[in-house]
Amino acid sequence: MPKQKLIDKYNRHLNYLRISITDRCNLQCIYCMPRDLIPRLPHSDILSYEEILRIVRVGVSLGISKVRITGGEPLVRKGVYDFLSQLSRIDGLCDIALTTNGVFLKDNIEKIKAAGIKRINISLDTLNKNKYREITGYDRFDHVWEGIKIAHEMGFDPIKLNMVALNGVNENEMTDFAALSFSYPFHIRFIEYMPIGKSRMKYGPLLLVPEIKKRINVLGKLVPVTKDIHDGPAERYKLEGAKGEIGFIGALSHHFCNKCNRLRLTASGQLRPCLLSDHQEDLRSIMRKGCSDTEISEIFLAAVRHKPSDHNLSINHTGNVSCQMSSIGG
Ligand code: 5AD
Ligand code: SF4
Repeated sequence: MPKQKLIDKYNRHLNYLRISITDRCNLQCIYCMPRDLIPRLPHSDILSYEEILRIVRVGVSLGISKVRITGGEPLVRKGVYDFLSQLSRIDGLCDIALTTNGVFLKDNIEKIKAAGIKRINISLDTLNKNKYREITGYDRFDHVWEGIKIAHEMGFDPIKLNMVALNGVNENEMTDFAALSFSYPFHIRFIEYMPIGKSRMKYGPLLLVPEIKKRINVLGKLVPVTKDIHDGPAERYKLEGAKGEIGFIGALSHHFCNKCNRLRLTASGQLRPCLLSDHQEDLRSIMRKGCSDTEISEIFLAAVRHKPSDHNLSINHTGNVSCQMSSIGG
């Protein structure tokens, strides 16, 4: 394994790169997309797959060992399955995961498996068909749910379901989601809504992790699960007797920045040390001017130097992240 060179001044080992390969999406979730369509990046502003693979190879030589492919919706980008296969062939990456909204899962699951992906996170904020249409703008619940079940039958493990907890939208579904962990070995992850970029959400009182835990407690005791080195910020638990797990990502109620191991590459080739700060290092420009791998390494090190100790989003303030989640990749 390459020596870890991406260690910041707070002694955080940044071994995890999240890569958004497109800012486009085939859904329009209320908490992610504003009412007026935001202009999409022109194709020429998006990193090519070759550029992304080169960045990953340099990242791996510096100690990146896990990558996650996100979007927008990554599966809408042409050529994605070939790209995923090439990514899985990079020596030194021990973990390649995919975050998708699941709409294209059912019809492409064989290709995802053949490309060497074993771990999938699916964004699913409701188990109710009508609500699904309200949240995403499209009638795709059955399709997504079938895709999830097929992925499970094909042995993808773990399958994580990401649900963003939204007061006034899906707040009555916390126990339904948690109860899925009795029937399936899925990891159900409750994510606090983060006010980032423009969206169609009205900021009401936020539904935070302590309240979600309280609601889930009616199903049984939440027993903590030991974390491993690639674990991100999720607090992990199991309900007694359950096949699956429950995770909580409480970016607002519980700042977990001291354990953050991530860097992010946006679709337009900006390396961001933190989701919740607008600092970014421009890889695309230097690569298109013909830079060397050493110069790419220097940009990684600059991003590491700029990783903030903590973020400034809080329960009462919306912070100052202006970039859209769909271009940073969650
Ligand atoms: N707050 C919290 N989670 C969000 N996601 C997208 N936008 C937000 C937001 N504003 C989630 C998606 C996806 C993950 C990558 O991030 O639902 O599952
Ligand atoms: Fe698309 Fe994900 Fe944003 Fe929903 S949250 S609109 S699925 S990018």
